[in-house]
Amino acid sequence: MIHSAELKPLSSVAGGPLQGRIRVPGDKSISHRSLMFGAVTIGETSIEGLLEADDVLGTADAMRALGASVTRLGQGSWRVGGLGVGGLLEPAKVLDFGNAGTGSRLTMGLVGGHNIAATFVGDASLSRRPMGRILDPLRRMGVDVVARAGDRIPLTLKGPETLVPITYRVPMASAQVKSAVLLAGLNAPGVTTVIEPIATRDHTERMLEGFGAAIEVIVDDNGERIIRLEGRPDLKPQAVIVPGDPSSAAFAIVAGLIVPGSDVVVENVLLNPLRTGLLTTLIEMGADLSIENERLSGGERIGDVHVRFGRLKGVAVPAERAPSMIDEYPILAVAAAFADGETVMDGLEELRVKESDRLSAVAHGLSVNGVTVKEGAASLTITGAAGRIGGGTVPTHLDHRIAMSFLVMGLAGSEPVTVDDTATIATSFPNFLSLMQGLGAVFEVPKAA
Ligand code: S3P
Repeated sequence: MIHSAELKPLSSVAGGPLQGRIRVPGDKSISHRSLMFGAVTIGETSIEGLLEADDVLGTADAMRALGASVTRLGQGSWRVGGLGVGGLLEPAKVLDFGNAGTGSRLTMGLVGGHNIAATFVGDASLSRRPMGRILDPLRRMGVDVVARAGDRIPLTLKGPETLVPITYRVPMASAQVKSAVLLAGLNAPGVTTVIEPIATRDHTERMLEGFGAAIEVIVDDNGERIIRLEGRPDLKPQAVIVPGDPSSAAFAIVAGLIVPGSDVVVENVLLNPLRTGLLTTLIEMGADLSIENERLSGGERIGDVHVRFGRLKGVAVPAERAPSMIDEYPILAVAAAFADGETVMDGLEELRVKESDRLSAVAHGLSVNGVTVKEGAASLTITGAAGRIGGGTVPTHLDHRIAMSFLVMGLAGSEPVTVDDTATIATSFPNFLSLMQGLGAVFEVPKAA
């Protein structure tokens, strides 16, 4: 787990075209959830294609500390022996989630649903992120919270003997908040209801249904999603196959579009419609992008994403699209830097509370590399293709997606782009550098380092 490890700077430089077919590791959201749902299911859940990155390994450790048996059989192949809903045990050690917002926040829901106490800690990035959004509904369900001012971690939760099932309207577009309430609600007597004014990724709902929970989702006349979960189900062990993570695929996809002469296929990518906002936006920008070999796997649409280099044009990205591409704005900003004209992105308030303040980290990274950018309170306006791109060093603020996005930028720059640290890439995409090198990408350790 990364805390204050030594910084590992790296530069990327323009070489030849990128070419080839790759598979990116398993989806992070589905990986976390398969370990957690397995932990509250009696019997053995099998997982193939689990993302073996620091964030998910932290969740595996936490599930073990909560009493589940979690074993690795081989590359991506895991088994979870669970204890049933309500069966988790009080951990004997603090739960260290490193950099992982999803791992920590969803586990808070799970722990809150049990009459046990657990302490949550993490790295400097996670310790800055707001946890009140999770703690507020949990407090209403009867969970005791001891947290430092501003509801940040380290914090300790203790679930009540009997949880109060609540109806909760999620105040911000957040799948993590929705999921934490549903995970606590798993062990509440009666029905827990979550109202989502704006749809976010629905892996929790889909997977809980797959594990045999009684969960229904209704979209009302105003377009709001009403999710009702019957508490205390007997979950049934599943065989989960984790598709490739679209948020990791995004880096190779954009690299293939902006590096002259490239032709890249990313195979086996999850195409859940609540995750494909980036692909929609790139197509609107004029990208040569097609989906091949589209198929269904484990109830999810997947396919191979084929991209070829070509000119992109700036677009206005509607605010309503933000939840379906929330993790992809840093790499979209890189695509926009190489597009003709202006790209305007709105509705980005949630970017301020990611692994870093991604709005300001992206704006800073672009401007130190010669790209014209305007940072609004919740918007970015980027003027593409004006002059030479590159030559700057980007502070990554413990944010894996900032590091990977700017390394992609350097592959098409007129000068190298340096990021101050690549250690955090291991939180979500440990083989990013080698996969990209396999396509022809060139990375160099900067001389000053
Ligand atoms: C996730 C939800 C999103 C996303 C994160 C994964 C999930 O966070 O940014 O990477 O798996 O539920 P928010 O809920 O904060 O939007």
